Amino acid sequence: MQVIIDSTAKCVNQAAERFSALLRRKPDAVLGLATGSTPEALYGKLIEQYKAGIISFKKVTTFNLDEYVGLNGDHPQSYRRFMQEKLFDHVDIDLKQTHVPDGVHTTPENAADYDKMIEAAGGIDLLLLGIGNNGHIGFNEPGSSFDALTHIVDLNESTRQANARFFASINEVPKQAVTMGIHTIMQARSIILMAFGAGKSQAIAGAVTGPVSADVPASVLRLHPDVTMFVDDGAATDIKV
Ligand code: PGA
Repeated sequence: MQVIIDSTAKCVNQAAERFSALLRRKPDAVLGLATGSTPEALYGKLIEQYKAGIISFKKVTTFNLDEYVGLNGDHPQSYRRFMQEKLFDHVDIDLKQTHVPDGVHTTPENAADYDKMIEAAGGIDLLLLGIGNNGHIGFNEPGSSFDALTHIVDLNESTRQANARFFASINEVPKQAVTMGIHTIMQARSIILMAFGAGKSQAIAGAVTGPVSADVPASVLRLHPDVTMFVDDGAATDIKV
């Protein structure tokens, strides 16, 4: 695992360049995408590059990591809506080729069909991850099995609190989500994780220097052959080398 520590802006630029280089080399790449505050600036850079004629999304296929249970794609806080607003509506992507787990129709029995769709598309070339304050990746909370495929999870109270900023009140934050499992994530050929701000520093320290353990789900990434973490100076403060 490569850990790059730099300013937030430089982390964003370098991560965006990795996506851009892939799309130039492989225009029909399969991307794994994340929501939340962390990837927003990266999506902004990709939109700029599209508008400048440097990259195209015409042949790209995407699979998002997760979605809230109970929110349909029109809900303002759904991750489908986030992706439309932050990326898809601004580039030449074919919406039929964009996938976000279905927060309304997914059941415990059919959730892993998402893995089959990823496999049928040829697997994910490059997957983008954020990290939760508690070390989660996707919505794989501490204690999650490393063997899990896409499944429905109960969200931790700390995750609901962290995401309450997007909702009118904590009571409106869904209690469950559909998420790619850790096995699904580990199948991606290449992974980029971005972590910004001091709130992520303990999770990053645990992931980078602690034991590989389900207590810090992101630590599993050390077992993957091609992971780059872009960690800004704030999120790097607890890494002891
Ligand atoms: P954030 O979320 O980018 O909004 O901090 C990251 C995550 O919870 O994975």
